[in-house]
Amino acid sequence: MMACPIDTKSIRPIIYSAGKCRMLDQRKLPIEELWLEYDQYQEVAEAIRSMVVRGAPAIGVAAAIGAWFGARDIEAKTSAEFMQQFEAICAHLAATRPTAINLCWALERMKSFAQANLDRSIQELKIGLEYEAFAIAEEDDRLNRKLGKNGARLIPDGARVLTHCNAGALATGGYGTALGVLRAAVEAGKTISVIADETRPFLQGARLTAWELQRDNIPVTLICDNMAGYLMSKGEIDCVIVGADRIAANGDVANKIGTYTVAVLAKEHKIPFYVAAPLSTLDLSLSDGSLIPIEERDAREVTHVGGIRIAPEGVPVRNPSFDVTPARLVSAIITEAGVVEGDYRQGLANLFTR
Ligand code: MRU
Repeated sequence: MMACPIDTKSIRPIIYSAGKCRMLDQRKLPIEELWLEYDQYQEVAEAIRSMVVRGAPAIGVAAAIGAWFGARDIEAKTSAEFMQQFEAICAHLAATRPTAINLCWALERMKSFAQANLDRSIQELKIGLEYEAFAIAEEDDRLNRKLGKNGARLIPDGARVLTHCNAGALATGGYGTALGVLRAAVEAGKTISVIADETRPFLQGARLTAWELQRDNIPVTLICDNMAGYLMSKGEIDCVIVGADRIAANGDVANKIGTYTVAVLAKEHKIPFYVAAPLSTLDLSLSDGSLIPIEERDAREVTHVGGIRIAPEGVPVRNPSFDVTPARLVSAIITEAGVVEGDYRQGLANLFTR
């Protein structure tokens, strides 16, 4: 098998330099590659809410950078005053999207850094917070590469792999989680092909996963969400791999709406169903998935496609953006600290002691 290095450095949803960040507008891809520039925390919050940037780890990175923009502009005389204002900024950013825990995880990390350094001058504190935000972004890319290597051994050579939504470089600080595992499998010399669910209503699979895999020359075939069962029944899918927005202590997984359906189908067809996520996606404070808050988004995402109405005026709409896949349907959870199978409650807790 030939090793095939992939340069995914070029796919980064957020680029930070000199007090500003640029984000690739993921609402516009693949039609347009539009970069938007931000330097105010309120703008970053709006970019997260409106999904200019999306994907659990990527919104964590964006929130950390947003928190730093806010911190930089605080005018406070005492550290207590600084902290009070910084907490309000973090609360504003945290209120943008409720399901992905990485958002709160990154903001908690920024707040802990500030709290632990309150004895320094406010100027030093601000510089430290900029470094902390930058570290969160860099670590995410590095840990995804580690996670990818851990998961690659589960992907057989020649595998046809179904994925749902986009858990790739676009959804992270770089490289990706589920797609990171597939990139690592290719880098290890395996030949794989990917089947991407389109992922209604926001179409992350059609617009983003297809786009980034094509750029890396990884074979990808696009299907509508309702085609997965047929392909499984025909023996055309060997395994499933998805990312996660939050994983509870018992291994229940919140991910993009439709993930649960795919997991049920995979179980019926005896196909392995893998979840790839960094430790920052684990929320061991929640005993099971029923406690995970599920975001409901605007009805317009369902009634319109590409700005064109496809449903009658006034029809009632539901638009839950995520669902919860019970742990019993999950074959393994892949993290940068190792792969957990079987007893998730014990196995996930152990990851933090390694
Ligand atoms: O609504 P989105 O696009 O932010 O949802 C993204 C997902 O559900 C991803 O699968 C998840 O965040 C993992 S990204 C590595």
